[in-house]
Amino acid sequence: MTVLVTGATGRVGRGVVAELLRAGVRVRALTRRPESAGLPEGAEVVRGDLENPESLAEALKGVERMYLFPVAETAREVVAMARRAGVRRIVVLSGALAEEEADDEEGGYRAVEVAVQESGLEWTLARPSEFAANWLDYAADIRDKREVRRPFGEAVTRPTHEADIALVAARALVEEGHAGQIYVLAGPEALTVAEQVRLIGEAIGEEVRFVELTPEQARAEWYDPEQGVDHEVIDWLLDLYGTSAGGSGRVPGSDTFERLTGRPPTSFARWAADHAHDFR
Ligand SMILES: NC(=O)c1ccc[n+]([C@@H]2O[C@H](COP(=O)([O-])OP(=O)(O)OC[C@H]3O[C@@H](n4cnc5c(N)ncnc54)[C@H](OP(=O)(O)O)[C@@H]3O)[C@@H](O)[C@H]2O)c1
Repeated sequence: MTVLVTGATGRVGRGVVAELLRAGVRVRALTRRPESAGLPEGAEVVRGDLENPESLAEALKGVERMYLFPVAETAREVVAMARRAGVRRIVVLSGALAEEEADDEEGGYRAVEVAVQESGLEWTLARPSEFAANWLDYAADIRDKREVRRPFGEAVTRPTHEADIALVAARALVEEGHAGQIYVLAGPEALTVAEQVRLIGEAIGEEVRFVELTPEQARAEWYDPEQGVDHEVIDWLLDLYGTSAGGSGRVPGSDTFERLTGRPPTSFARWAADHAHDFR
């Protein structure tokens, strides 16, 4: 059996590749840049771009199962091609926010989910909540200044380890019994943003200062249209971060990971320790 892993160089995708190789499955790993992909030797690395479905024709040959990184704009076309090529099962990397999206919403997670659910193929949806790995966006500030500047320090999230998501996706690809399942994945603890910063500090053995910005300060500091951070993106981020401020978290806990693996999801402290080298 050959499994095509799209988004294979991603934080989750690399884990999916590793888990599948560990399970003894033949892995074809898709990337736009094979020369710099740094994928393991055991995987067959192929070039392709999810934004350009025609580029996937070769990659799909002989593939029976696929891990789909979500690119809403082309999902329908990619899924139709996969079906024609003989793919029988697709596991989608989606997001917990899909819960709040309408089925006909353009550009979100549901667009990808619906494309797969309507395909007639076996499907499993992985809906992780916020990635712990989002903290890597702050790695340079933590390395250089031992500081995180963010609004809503009391916002609560359940950061999810990318390895947990990868493990569940790989299981759904390899094992039977996951067809038609929607797997909501969340970290084991509801932690405030400020607590998460403190735990990153503990992982590197040094204090990391949390500087709480007002939303207005965040607007001014984040605005960087050349990097795609325009007012619309900032509004979206402030809404996302602000919704969980002072509450129990936008995304509730989930027992899915423990049900599937027999152990609790990985703690944020463990995630921070796994990534200490990124923050030192
Ligand atoms: N961040 C969160 O809190 C969160 C929460 C829930 C769900 N999610 C979902 O998870 C995704 C991130 O997953 P991840 O961390 O594993 O991935 P990632 O680290 O963002 O990278 C995914 C890989 O996919 C490829 N890729 C990205 N965009 C592409 C595109 N438009 N067309 C073709 N290839 C593309 C790139 O590989 P190459 O450059 O090698 O081609 C990239 O390395 C998000 O995009 C979101 O959909 C995120």
